[in-house]
Parts: sequence; C-alpha cells; structure tokens
Amino acid sequence: MARGSLQLNSEWKTKVEESLAIKQLTQKLIAEQLNISKSSVSKFINGKPIAANNFIRICQEIGLDWGLASQEEPQKNDFENFKFKTTNFKSNPGGEIAPQEIIGRERLIRQIWEILEQQSLIFVGERRIGKSSTLKKMASEDNDKMLPIYRDLEGIRTPIEFVEKVWQDIELHLPEEGKATKVRNFLSQLQATQFTGFHFTEIAESHWKSLLTFAIEDLVKMQNKQIVFIWDEIPHMLENFADRSAMEMLDTLRSLRQTYPDIRMVFSGSIGLHHIFKNLQKAGYRNDPTNDMYTIDGQPLTLEDAMKLTIHLIEGENIATFNVEKSARDIAEAVDCIPFYIHHLVNQLKTLKEEVTHSVIINTIEECLHNPLNPWKMDHYRERIDNYYTEDQKPYVLNILDLLAINPPTTFTKLWQVLYNDPETNNKEMARTIIRLLMKDYYLIQTGSIYSFRYQLVQQYWKLSRGI
Ligand SMILES: Nc1ncnc2c1ncn2[C@@H]1O[C@H](COP(=O)(O)OP(=O)(O)O)[C@@H](O)[C@H]1O
Ligand SMILES: [Mg+2]
Repeated sequence: MARGSLQLNSEWKTKVEESLAIKQLTQKLIAEQLNISKSSVSKFINGKPIAANNFIRICQEIGLDWGLASQEEPQKNDFENFKFKTTNFKSNPGGEIAPQEIIGRERLIRQIWEILEQQSLIFVGERRIGKSSTLKKMASEDNDKMLPIYRDLEGIRTPIEFVEKVWQDIELHLPEEGKATKVRNFLSQLQATQFTGFHFTEIAESHWKSLLTFAIEDLVKMQNKQIVFIWDEIPHMLENFADRSAMEMLDTLRSLRQTYPDIRMVFSGSIGLHHIFKNLQKAGYRNDPTNDMYTIDGQPLTLEDAMKLTIHLIEGENIATFNVEKSARDIAEAVDCIPFYIHHLVNQLKTLKEEVTHSVIINTIEECLHNPLNPWKMDHYRERIDNYYTEDQKPYVLNILDLLAINPPTTFTKLWQVLYNDPETNNKEMARTIIRLLMKDYYLIQTGSIYSFRYQLVQQYWKLSRGI
C-alpha cells in the first residue's frame, strides 16, 4: 500500500455496509457531504487503498473506529492479489484485446488441445461469445508439441488469396534457411524466372491446389511439431467464393488432412457451416467434407469468469458500486455471461453519473436494446433471418420466435396449436424443421420437451424490437 493511504480490512466490510444502511447513507451522499470523489468512496467500501485523510473522514462520517477498520489483515490469497494488480482493465466492446486480458477459457483451451492430439475440429458458437478470443489466447500459448497458426479469413474472396495467406503464414513459421522451397520452385517454373517475392503473381491463380499442397509439404518437412491451422471466419470466406471453388476448397482441405497426419485444422466462425453446406447442396454438392472433424459448441463465459471480467472492468474504469461483487454478478447474469455485452454494458455504465445498482443495470440494458443506432449490434439477430431462411421458412421463424419471446418456455404441441391457425405456418413437419434450425442458429434451446430462447438477452431484444 502506498504511504499516506489506508484501506479497509475486509472483515469490516459488512460493518460498513450495516452502518450505511442504518444511517441511510449512499456512496453518493457520503461523497457529496465530505466533498470527495465517488470513486474514492467506492474504493473505500471495496477495500482499496485511498488517501488516509479521506479514509479517516469516511469512517468518522459512518461512525466507525478508523484505527481498527484499517488494521492490516493476514496475507491475502492469490485471487485477491490478482484483483488489485489488474485495475488497468478498460472496457473495449468489440475491440482487439491482449491475450492476458482474455479472462478464463483455460479448461476449454485444454480440451481443444487434447482433441487436436487426435483430430481436427470445428469450433462453432453464437457470434460474440468469445470464440476468436479463445483461439487467439490459445495461439499465444507456448506448446512443445503443437504449432498453432491463427488467421482470420473474413475478407478473403478467392482461393488463391487464401492460399497466399496460408503460404505467407507458413513462411513466417519456417526457419530462415530454405524457406518454402517447393512453393518458390514451382512459382519460378511457372513464371520462367526466379520467384523471390512475398505475393503471388496472376499466373499462380489457376494452380492454387498445387500451391497449397506444396506449401503444406514445405511446412511439414521443416517443422517437427504438430501444425495447427486455426482458420477463423472460414464460413465467411467460403460464402465469398463461387460455389464451385467453395466445394473444391472443402474437398482439398479434407484430402490434405488425410494425406498429412501432422496437420490439424480448426475451423471457426459465427456463420454456421450448415448454411454454407445447404447452399452448396443446392448447387449439386454431395460430399460431407468435415465428417472427420470434431465439433465443439462454444459457450459464454462461466458465471465465475464473467464476474471476474466484470470486476476487472468496473475497477479499471473506476465505476462506483455499492458492492462490486454483487454488481458484477448482476451485470454478468443480465447479459448471459457473454463477454462482448459485458464490455458494452460496463462501457455504458461508466458514462452514468450514478452509483450502479441492479435497477440501473436493467434500465441501461433496456435503453441500449431500444437504441435505434443499434450500439450492441443486436439487429443482426433479425437481419440474418432474411439471409439464411427461405421465403416460405420466414413466417415460421418469426411466428415461433414471437411466441417464445412473450410466453413462458413451452412444448412443440403448444406452439403448434397457435402455428397451425396461420395459413403461412400450417405445415407441421416444416414447423419441426424450423425449430431444429433455430436451435442450430443459437436462437433456441430444448430442455426435455420444452423450448425456450437460448439467451434471455436475445429474447429481450426480440420482444423490444418487434414491439410485442
Ligand atoms: N474471455 C474474454 N475475456 C475478456 N473479454 C472477452 C473474452 N472473450 C471475448 N471478449 C470480448 O468480447 C469481444 C467479442 O469476442 P470474440 O472473441 O470476437 O467473439 P466471437 O469470435 O465469438 O464473435 C472481444 O472483442 C472482447 O472484447
Ligand atoms: Mg470471431
């Protein structure tokens, strides 16, 4: 603790809270009466060091013996120490964050590594639940057996662009001498002069399959670790390709996985691959190009990790709360432990001039969901229905989601009783199919025979945005 500062012994926290309740004092009132900042009062209550004179004045104000209240306590455990070290956390909704700011996910990452020892995998999950962050954290870890190579493929529009990126990534991971010789020799032959650059020339375009194979061979030959290509937003990339190219790419990647056992692939992204496959099937594709891959369904943070992240952000942003752990729980639970919305919510709360309480949290969420500027990007939940469902499927989707948004979780039989009255939704098998699709797209979950929204935040958005 800095000289000239004092902090509350954690055993006194309850006494402080009791005194505040008895005297009907809030943090805001104390701050105003003593003319000190609300964040100092919040720090005081949460056991953080504050200027000694302020510490003494607050104790006097609430009738406590400052000498006893500030007595040193025995060594704190690691979790407590960790909390104090991380006060520089800032809310950063949707922004790039450093691996050490990515909270939790240790068990998931361990599970992914274990699966990768056996086979390649697909890591799916609702957008914004933290898939990319998990994969980036994983790729930043040292691993003696595996070499993870992370690449976001969102903007890639053609197979040759993809192969160029893969090759560039491979070159970066090869030792200096004799880099990617097969690729370079092949390109030199094609253009009939020595190829020395870091970008493919036009002539390479029609040879993308050979180039990809050579690049992988170069890497396999020169690396003794298991290579893990982590390809994020791969469905986005495939969606950008012409149908034929997308089919060829999926088949080529599958055959590379079979030919080179030292290669593993992680496919990730927020568009379900089932949508991509469905479109390719319409164009005549009959293969099942990922049936050798294990699927992991990404989940939001655990409540414990979501609270940990929230506490870091509340402290990093110096937000006044009556009880930081309780506010963290309220925030985490209100946004289904989805880290993206935790960042957003804290970011919003920091602009308010009032102490954070449960009702402030609930009101702030409602305002953000109401905001026509769509700051939390929730309109996506409505818009993607137009992109991924056919005209005759849409009435089912809208009716089912509308029904579940305003009613308690229910059975198919109950839903059907309403659906069949509408001439646009009176095909029972279609209703079943759509419910299954809505589960695949993370709108709904099924518990026993009961269906409900998977995330209450999405349910709340749906209700508000549809005015129902
Ligand atoms: N484990 C985490 N700890 C802290 N912040 C996280 C974590 N996971 C995600 N975030 C935040 O949420 C945002 C969205 O997460 P991201 O990993 O991009 O989700 P996805 O890839 O599933 O769409 C990130 O930019 C980051 O700010
Ligand atoms: Mg992502």
